[in-house]
Amino acid sequence: MTANTLNPITANDIVAVIGAGTMGAGIAQVAAKFGHTVLLYDKMEGAAQAGLDRTAKGLEKLVSRGKMTAADKDALVNRIQATENLSDLAPAKLVVEAIIENLAVKQSVFSELEALCSADTILATNTSSISVTAIGSALKRPENLVGMHFFNPAPIMKLVEVIKGLATSESVAQQVYDLSVAWGKHAVMAKSTPGFIVNRVARPFYAEGMRVLQEGGADEATIDAIAREAGQFRMGPFELMDLIGHDVNYAVTSSVFDAYYGDQRFLPSLIQKDLVEAGFHGRKTGRGFYDYSDHAEKPEAKTRAIQNAPTSITVEGEMGCAEPLIARIEAAGIKVHRSTEHDHNGRISIGDLVIALTDGRMATERASVAQRRQLVLFDLALDYSQATRIALTKADQTSEESLNQAAGLFQAIGMQVSVIDDIAGMVLMRTVAMLANEGADAVNQQVCSAKDVDIAMQSGVNYPQGPLAWADSVGLEQIHTVLTHLVNSYGEDRYRPSPLLRRKVFGAQTFHG
Ligand SMILES: NC(=O)c1ccc[n+]([C@@H]2O[C@H](COP(=O)([O-])OP(=O)(O)OC[C@H]3O[C@@H](n4cnc5c(N)ncnc54)[C@H](O)[C@@H]3O)[C@@H](O)[C@H]2O)c1
Repeated sequence: MTANTLNPITANDIVAVIGAGTMGAGIAQVAAKFGHTVLLYDKMEGAAQAGLDRTAKGLEKLVSRGKMTAADKDALVNRIQATENLSDLAPAKLVVEAIIENLAVKQSVFSELEALCSADTILATNTSSISVTAIGSALKRPENLVGMHFFNPAPIMKLVEVIKGLATSESVAQQVYDLSVAWGKHAVMAKSTPGFIVNRVARPFYAEGMRVLQEGGADEATIDAIAREAGQFRMGPFELMDLIGHDVNYAVTSSVFDAYYGDQRFLPSLIQKDLVEAGFHGRKTGRGFYDYSDHAEKPEAKTRAIQNAPTSITVEGEMGCAEPLIARIEAAGIKVHRSTEHDHNGRISIGDLVIALTDGRMATERASVAQRRQLVLFDLALDYSQATRIALTKADQTSEESLNQAAGLFQAIGMQVSVIDDIAGMVLMRTVAMLANEGADAVNQQVCSAKDVDIAMQSGVNYPQGPLAWADSVGLEQIHTVLTHLVNSYGEDRYRPSPLLRRKVFGAQTFHG
């Protein structure tokens, strides 16, 4: 039998893990938890045993917190055998490689394994950035090689990206997909392309934040607070990059940018390059965008002082995804008049002041086109019925008094207000539009399905909602309009709407219809 035949891997099969570092030790734990006998190999003397010891220590903590019994822990640890002989891995049905990120070294290890293991052994690589096709090119049986991309820490993070190289057999990919699901993971299937799904689609989360910062739109703490409190992301882009490390994050962006032959969508940021060159790599070096030294105070988000609330507002047209705002406004005791005469995108007016959701244009441009002096724009929120912060911006023509009136309205419904400078697409709207656009491109280029884009971003990087489902709920026409306006504002190819997004808009469809 060859690995090409669908032959499900069961708990009785032996799994080998090569490389007992951060990822390998975690992957061994995941496999042993399911019941496999796991052979953990590392070429560095003592490293396999050290990896196993770390796993045992981590599990002891779970036992002390009452999350696992001592007997289950012992049984799990006893199923992992550390070895320093590659030949011990011969009986494995599946070998997962998690060694140094180097093409030639990975090719050589897999070539050795091919000679050792049987013809139906599945060879899986945990590479995060190397082409599975390229690794497979050195093998006699490239059809047996597949990507099995875990996220750190492997026992906790739910996602596994199953990556098909050009020669990978469908049945091998399917077996690894099914096994990942059996191991309790959320598996997605993707073609071997730069960044796979997560490391590709996530780029705008960091990049758009850095562009707003670079243009002086808002400071790091304010952008992070908008992402958390309006977007419900667990961390804002700057605190997350500081945690990941700028050396790592910049290297991923640069490698994806190079791999796509300099596509402007993935253009790295000079701000981050500077941090890398300064050695300010983030938390691990004590300084990144923020200062982590002992007495440093974390800067606070810019928050507008409390302003007077209006007694009444008029809502013209349909508010779309921002409709839940109106119920909150009514619940706050503010009288709402509805006018159905206006057929444009919905807006709120208070006297001659108009308050509207950003459509990707600068407020200043939009006020000029509409020949209206008093215009305040608000940013996207994941859920307007719950958001605790909102970003506002005003046109240059608009008075501070009008801005304060708008701030007073949002404050009256329990939101903190962060006023940002007049940047096209504000913070969250441009970020979500670009995340969805990148997800749409991945689907359009046959890398993966729309469903898998959303699973990957929610399970791999904890996004509060998949970007394509989020775009569906905002309205694809709105997302498309935002991107088109960003193209106009910047004149940059980076913001070009994905052909698939355009098609969905013109076909009046959604990604998850
Ligand atoms: N760290 C992460 O967040 C992360 C996430 C996903 C994927 N990955 C990928 O997983 C792989 C491993 O990353 P890591 O962070 O665990 O690295 P690590 O440095 O913590 O561990 C790598 C281990 O591999 C061993 N090793 C190196 N060359 C070897 C060889 N030729 N044969 C056997 N063992 C060898 C090293 O001794 C070390 O113990 C890389 O391909 C990386 O891109 C890492």
